[in-house]
Amino acid sequence: MSEKLLKTREYEAVKSSEIPAEQRPVFHMSPAVGWANDPNGFSVYMGEYHLFYQNNPYGTRWGNIHWGHYKSRDLISWEYVPSALAPDMPYDKDGCFSGSAIEWQGKHYLMYTSNREDKLPDGTLQIRQTQSMAVGNGRDYEKFPENPVITADTLPEGSSLSDFRDPKLWREDDGFYAVIGSRSPDGSGQIALYSSRDLRSWRFVSILDRCNNEYGKMWECPDFFPLDGKQVLIVSPQEMLAEGLEHHNGNGSLCLIGSYDKGSHTFTREAVQAIDYGMDFYAGQTTETPDGRRVLVAWMNNWENYLTPNDFKWSGPMVVPRELTLRDGRLCQNPVRELEKYRTDELKLRVEASEEFKELPGVGGRVFDMTVELDTEECKSLKLRVAADGRFYTSLVYDGTKQTFTTDRTYSGSTRDLLAVRTMPLTGHEGRVKLRILMDKYTVEVFANDGERVMSSLIYTPLEAEKILFCSDGAFEVMFSQIKKP
Ligand code: FRU
Repeated sequence: MSEKLLKTREYEAVKSSEIPAEQRPVFHMSPAVGWANDPNGFSVYMGEYHLFYQNNPYGTRWGNIHWGHYKSRDLISWEYVPSALAPDMPYDKDGCFSGSAIEWQGKHYLMYTSNREDKLPDGTLQIRQTQSMAVGNGRDYEKFPENPVITADTLPEGSSLSDFRDPKLWREDDGFYAVIGSRSPDGSGQIALYSSRDLRSWRFVSILDRCNNEYGKMWECPDFFPLDGKQVLIVSPQEMLAEGLEHHNGNGSLCLIGSYDKGSHTFTREAVQAIDYGMDFYAGQTTETPDGRRVLVAWMNNWENYLTPNDFKWSGPMVVPRELTLRDGRLCQNPVRELEKYRTDELKLRVEASEEFKELPGVGGRVFDMTVELDTEECKSLKLRVAADGRFYTSLVYDGTKQTFTTDRTYSGSTRDLLAVRTMPLTGHEGRVKLRILMDKYTVEVFANDGERVMSSLIYTPLEAEKILFCSDGAFEVMFSQIKKP
């Protein structure tokens, strides 16, 4: 093990134990210490889930990128594992960027982007992104001596040599495959497919899809998997432009649904949708559970919305892992069913209309799983305030006239001038609207109509603000439970 990784492991063990438990979410993964961005290497190895993440252990801002590491038996309780990769080789000296993992013949293989930046004699910065591999036992990993295993000169002519990253691995009957984000000669994103028989020697196969300057520019963090009879390509585009309520400016998250011809390695795109409509969601990655569910995690934050309070020693939780399905041609996401084991103090209430914001008996706190259900004829306006006290609140509003749902964190207590409001379309199904709201101290995730649309946002309201208030023009039902670790 390199000096650099050893030092990081020692530092991380000491510093992570100094972070007070109250400052940690209960059922969301948060980095051991320092900054986190993308989830990496989400996989099952020796019967346990492993989840790595882009990590700067030494500060709460991006830089010096390592792979932090956790594992879990149920996707809800996460156990710290020492840092897996440090940027300690000439080819990855400027970061072990995003990638994925796979179990094969009893070993755990990681594929990541090795990032190297050099100042040329004329003063310009040359960035070279290549793909490298490491193999290990679920705790210690050794980088391949032949790294990097894929260089950008294998791409179609004119493709970028500096934007080539985030390999996602999987296995088919005829060998291993990886999708990798790349930039085509027109400067916009393309997703390259590579294959290998032994995980060591790789060849370029095809370009699976292209952005053509339509959905942002560079496409980062691809994932590619079958789902309910279709094939899904997930990408995280940079430089998106807002489009109605579907896409917002900046870094987005897209799900491209289509079909895949394994013989010719061609993907035919049929539909495009946003994955999450909230303010804090990026770089989703999936794995398949042993019982065949496709589960997604993502970074619950975004590049241009840095909200982490100054006294925090960690930044960037992951969203709650979500089971994916396709329903009526749309990607649906619901919290993994394992979460239900952690519910306590369950309550069911029918609530009458109220012009004033009011509390409900037994309904409050900052760590909960709550479902609100209404009849769209009976109730056309429902306003909720969570993490509320005399001064602060975050509002969650269903507007049946406009058929929208909005999260507004203007009064959540942040002293920064950041994006505070997001709205998504929300219509009833057979006259019903259902909102499942998961809150875990600083995270608010809203799953509308059984996961048809999701909105994830962070708030750092002081923990004393723990009221939940309701106001509506009609009756509705509430199912409420606290989430507790045994
Ligand atoms: C996405 C990303 C990836 C890259 C990583 C670097 O958020 O920009 O494309 O590998 O972060 O930390």
